Amino acid sequence: MILIDGKKIAAELREELKQEVAELKTKYNKVPGLTVILIGDMAPSQIYVRNKEKSANEVGLKSEVIRYPDTVEEKTILEKIEELNNDENISGILVQLPLPKHIDKQKVIETIIPSKDVDGFHPMNVGNLSSGYESSVPCTPLGCYLMIKKIEPNLSGKKAVVVGRSNLNGKPMTQLLLKENCTVTITHSRTKDLKAECLEADIIVAAVGIPELVKGDWVKKDAIVIDVGINKTENGLVGDVAFDEVSKVAKALTPVPGGVGPMTIACLLKNTIDCFKRSQK
Ligand code: GUN
Repeated sequence: MILIDGKKIAAELREELKQEVAELKTKYNKVPGLTVILIGDMAPSQIYVRNKEKSANEVGLKSEVIRYPDTVEEKTILEKIEELNNDENISGILVQLPLPKHIDKQKVIETIIPSKDVDGFHPMNVGNLSSGYESSVPCTPLGCYLMIKKIEPNLSGKKAVVVGRSNLNGKPMTQLLLKENCTVTITHSRTKDLKAECLEADIIVAAVGIPELVKGDWVKKDAIVIDVGINKTENGLVGDVAFDEVSKVAKALTPVPGGVGPMTIACLLKNTIDCFKRSQK
């Protein structure tokens, strides 16, 4: 079984991106800039944002975190986004989710100009991705996609099952696999026989947030299994895949932690650089 080492693949990607940033600096005499807006003091968001900032600096991007208390008015956030939209030194804008209840998430997402939307959440980017046009692609599914391609460069005709239909993961993951000519099944909480669906799959991407949902006897021999889940349980951090069981049948499997997580952040850096490059065209 191949343990898909997300940490290592992400480090390799960061090394490539660092090289690219250096070349862009020579060519344009400036580097891509990423601004993250962080509202409130939720611990997981603080950790994500700290990691994002550290990685951005490591590859040579200009990065800035703007912090607000969770009492901040929606109007303040929208005005700041407008200001960043118009700032030519900023290539990418990310507003860390989740947001406090009084702030309208969709309004925030739609205020970010699509060309700086490094999350790929703006309806314009969602539409472009589903139409097969150039767009920002959400970082987590992009990271999953790059790991799958490392294991299996030719995905044409493969059967893929995506477990979970969120806008963040399941739906964009489906689009990426479809673009690679996979036959994709999207499953979710109302799917009648999830085990039977998974057993058909050459590739499974589990992104539902249910601890160890995908069992060993749900997986076809030599399938590639990507685990997007991060679930806190009494037994510590576990994914959406029963790792020990599935590792006995799968061809390749991502661990939790150390699989998808590091790739998500590396892909955010990639998206920031890609936004910069498109803006220079
Ligand atoms: N919170 C958890 N994951 C993400 C992400 O990918 N983007 C944003 N903006 N917030 C998040």
